[in-house]
Amino acid sequence: MEGKNETPVSEFLFLGLTNHLYQKIVLFNMLLFVYLVTMGGNLGMVTLIWADPRLHTPMYFFLSHLSFVDMCSSSSIAPRMLYDIFTEKKAISFVGCAIQSWFAGLFVGTECFLLAAMAYDRDTAICKSLLYTLIMSKRVCAQLVVGPYAFAIINITTHTTLAFCLPFCGSNTINHFFCDVSPLFSLACADSWVNKVVLFVLSGAIGVFSCLIIIVSYVSILMTILKIQTADGKRKAFSTCSSHLAAVSILYGTLFFIYVRPSASFSLNINKMISLFYTVVIPMLNPLIYSLRNKEVKGAFRRKVQKKHFPAGR
Ligand SMILES: *[C@@H]1O[C@H](CO)[C@@H](O)[C@H](O)[C@H]1NC(C)=O
Repeated sequence: MEGKNETPVSEFLFLGLTNHLYQKIVLFNMLLFVYLVTMGGNLGMVTLIWADPRLHTPMYFFLSHLSFVDMCSSSSIAPRMLYDIFTEKKAISFVGCAIQSWFAGLFVGTECFLLAAMAYDRDTAICKSLLYTLIMSKRVCAQLVVGPYAFAIINITTHTTLAFCLPFCGSNTINHFFCDVSPLFSLACADSWVNKVVLFVLSGAIGVFSCLIIIVSYVSILMTILKIQTADGKRKAFSTCSSHLAAVSILYGTLFFIYVRPSASFSLNINKMISLFYTVVIPMLNPLIYSLRNKEVKGAFRRKVQKKHFPAGR
């Protein structure tokens, strides 16, 4: 093109978030804190659900998978980022970059679809409460967990394959802190419009599909709650889905913002901040959302702690 060296790129370089030492120190500590809270909170959630028979219900089965996905998505990004903050040359190999973008995309995608499956679960629990245990059999629960992984694998495998089949030569600096699919497009030396169209259409289609499941579930939940006569009954029904509603609003709110924003209207730094939020901060929030507002989780936690300090028989 401009007589640049046209040798194929064998590694990528991250630009990172900041160059100031002070900001680096603050960022490192914050990120380390968030990552440790994420791992601790989600691991605690999985352990609690696994150990307490009272939490062996479909909702908590899904929640334990959500926690697992949160740990994985955070781990596919945060450790590498922590390592890179103080490294001068933030290089990642071509293959390493493909692997990171695949795993990061897999877990973020799975989280979206898992939240849709959980909306269906809440819908069944509230609107068809008498048939709930019948409908949510072990088999259906397993399908509702495998489905999200399958959808996410199809999505991310398509995008990653298409992106890494592009020819890369010349510039190899990714203006991002992890290997995401779309920042690679501008580095390719061929036209990437096919990738952009596929990204827009496929992500849009499955995004709309899972959004629709959530919206339909919540409309039906709302109609059921409105039909309940007593205020107490209304509050009880709502409380079983309020945590999920909070989790959905935060994740889908963020993704929607990313998807609909005109890409030119924000600086790249804002885009990076938003990515940081949904890849690193949201995985930390889910266990907090589900434990703070939830009597069952708090009760299970108390029982575990009490058992340890005051063994049975007192
Ligand atoms: C599909 O993968 C792309 C690329 O990582 C991602 O931006 C998008 O959010 C994913 N779509 C869904 C619905 O998970």
